[in-house]
Amino acid sequence: MDIRGTDTPLLDWSGDALALGLFENATEITGELKQLDEKLGRTLQELITEAEFEGKSGTSAVTRVGGQSSVRKIILVGLGKADELKSNTLRLGAAAIVRLAKKEKVKTLAISLPLVNDDAATTTAAIAEGLILPLHQDNRFKSEPEDKPMKLETVDILGVGEQGETIKRAQIVCSGVILARELVAAPANSVTPVTFAETAQKIATDYGLGIEILEQEDCEKLGMGAFLGVAKASDLPPKFIHLTYKPAATPKRKVAIVGKSLTFDSGGLNLKVSGSGIETMKMDMGGGAATLGAAQAIAQLKPDVEVHFVCAATENMISGRALHPGDVLTASNGKTIEVNNTDAEGRLTLADALVFAEKLEVDAIVDLATLTGACIVALGDNISGLWSTDDNLAGEIKAAAEAAGEKFWEMPLEEKYFEGLKSPIADMKNTGPRAGGSITAALFLKQFIKETPWAHLDVAGPVWGDKENGVNNAGATGFPVRTLVNWVLS
Ligand code: BES
Ligand code: MG
Ligand code: ZN
Repeated sequence: MDIRGTDTPLLDWSGDALALGLFENATEITGELKQLDEKLGRTLQELITEAEFEGKSGTSAVTRVGGQSSVRKIILVGLGKADELKSNTLRLGAAAIVRLAKKEKVKTLAISLPLVNDDAATTTAAIAEGLILPLHQDNRFKSEPEDKPMKLETVDILGVGEQGETIKRAQIVCSGVILARELVAAPANSVTPVTFAETAQKIATDYGLGIEILEQEDCEKLGMGAFLGVAKASDLPPKFIHLTYKPAATPKRKVAIVGKSLTFDSGGLNLKVSGSGIETMKMDMGGGAATLGAAQAIAQLKPDVEVHFVCAATENMISGRALHPGDVLTASNGKTIEVNNTDAEGRLTLADALVFAEKLEVDAIVDLATLTGACIVALGDNISGLWSTDDNLAGEIKAAAEAAGEKFWEMPLEEKYFEGLKSPIADMKNTGPRAGGSITAALFLKQFIKETPWAHLDVAGPVWGDKENGVNNAGATGFPVRTLVNWVLS
């Protein structure tokens, strides 16, 4: 599918389908639309009337244009209230349009949507993302693809000018999202710590990133007892992955992105019981997957920021070598942890990854992790929790997320709750009481950060969706690659 920006006037465009966005309570057509309606033999007005189209967000309508018209079909999407227009309105509008265009077997499509903030580049980027992301279909594990090949060949975004560079950047970002989706969707017998590291290696080779992969012995030398404790039961070797992007000029800033990378989480000896979703735990490397997706995009977008990507990859398994509930581990900063629950393994792997990241002397660290079911209970499937020791950093993430159309909600680092992690034998336990479980998880991680501004994103809900939702199809979403990329580039 070829996406092009153009200034071709609405009235001059010809092709299979013309898609228009209409605001709520503004479906009375005037001006250019009126002229278009006359040209198309009043099809537009008829469609609005017959479909009782009111421009509400999330609504759409399609009709064929009769006769020998220069446009064969009209697609309408509702944009909601005009004063609430955001870039995500356009992203979602474009997604609805492209789904209809696919269903209607459209080959050549034009899209006419209002500009957000009078900004043609932002508008084009949002529309391009909305076009690309819903079309991603993952047939890797089917013997034969279920869906027929798509007919859509060209999409002209009207009224934005050429925008070649903007569209290319959107394609790069979407490739990062799709890489993350494919890593998350792949089962644990396909994406293992070993193949996950191979993917990181391939990104480094293809896009010119620095890479260091620490093997078990290297991690032992660094004293990563928490990470290695989790890795112990697996028959597969752990891989501690560190990718580096360095800009050509002196970096304006240095940051680290740390992603939880459990290629499978059985729970360990605190085995996940039936009904706990153990069969979905291939998604437990969602943080690491988004980290690699962001790395792939950032390597190509070349911001003037130095970025370190850190993934401590392993699986949480059971065997004669498994952690015993009650074991005490020593992390690489010397702190001791009583493992009162082997299913709270993500925070153990992140503990050593965060200590490693802070040693890189970066200006900010962001970790992202499918860390707790408790965060899903608190915020549902679509919203990620956000905790930060630094209001500026939290603000940067929120702004990046808003532009990306990805949802976060800031949660408290309530120090008092750390009492729930007090251990009689070690410096801390790895789990506290059920209440406030996502907060104690964040407080646990905070023990492994000294002074660097840090934000923790609990993405357990949004990395996966059971149903089609916005730009995502059912399954892995690639959340929050777009937020991470925006954050680094901002
Ligand atoms: N990987 C899970 C969290 C999770 C749950 C991710 C559901 C995605 C969907 C994590 O390792 C875990 O098992 N957490 C426990 C913590 C508990 C033992 C304190 C949980 O949430 O139940
Ligand atoms: Mg677990
Ligand atoms: Zn886990």
